[in-house]
Amino acid sequence: MRLDHYLSAAGLGSRSDVKKLISKGLISVDGTTVKDSGYKVDELLSRITYNGATVSYAKNVYFMLNKPKGVISASRADLRNQDETCVVDLISEEKHRGMFPIGRLDKDTEGLLIISDDGILAHNLLSPKKHVDKTYYAELKSELSLSDKEHIESGIDIGDDTPTLPAKIETINKTSVYITIHEGRYHEIKRMFEAVGNEVTFLKRISMGPLKLDPTLNPGEYRRLTDEELSLLI
Ligand code: URA
Repeated sequence: MRLDHYLSAAGLGSRSDVKKLISKGLISVDGTTVKDSGYKVDELLSRITYNGATVSYAKNVYFMLNKPKGVISASRADLRNQDETCVVDLISEEKHRGMFPIGRLDKDTEGLLIISDDGILAHNLLSPKKHVDKTYYAELKSELSLSDKEHIESGIDIGDDTPTLPAKIETINKTSVYITIHEGRYHEIKRMFEAVGNEVTFLKRISMGPLKLDPTLNPGEYRRLTDEELSLLI
């Protein structure tokens, strides 16, 4: 793992904070000062110190959930109505961790949701400046005309201060599409299709940035992210 990822995960600050500590020569690995943020460390074996004090690695937890319909994208603490089920309730392990969903899906939307206790990853994936791609499978009430498709793709007025950013639509058949957006506005996809007089009747997120929903997970099922998947994200 990269030294800057290790230090961030250990709670020493954001990625840019820890890069500054590294470049100032305040970090040592196995007794030698390292000034390269990308230096590879072994989180189990390397002895990493900051100003001489050992920095221990507080491992975060990361789950991929196929969110089912009818469940709220919130942590229990953020749930307004405590009688509702939230996505974190579906994860039966690591209950003490204070996990939360990274991003939100509407109550009736299914699909890929990361559940974690890693606030830095949440910031990196959700920051509007980062424009992380999100791809959804959508079923529509009516046939999507070519002009409506092009209109949505070029950016469309959905009643906010600014039109949506350009999107990409891949047609599957007359009434189902894959759509990739780069923002995360409230009800964004539903409002994009509403703006051309159509309606989304089923919505499922299938990818977020480089991470793809595991097709073997049924709605409500989850698993830990693999090391490979995690390295795509952090
Ligand atoms: N766009 C929507 O309209 N709903 C979602 O849940 C996600 C994106």
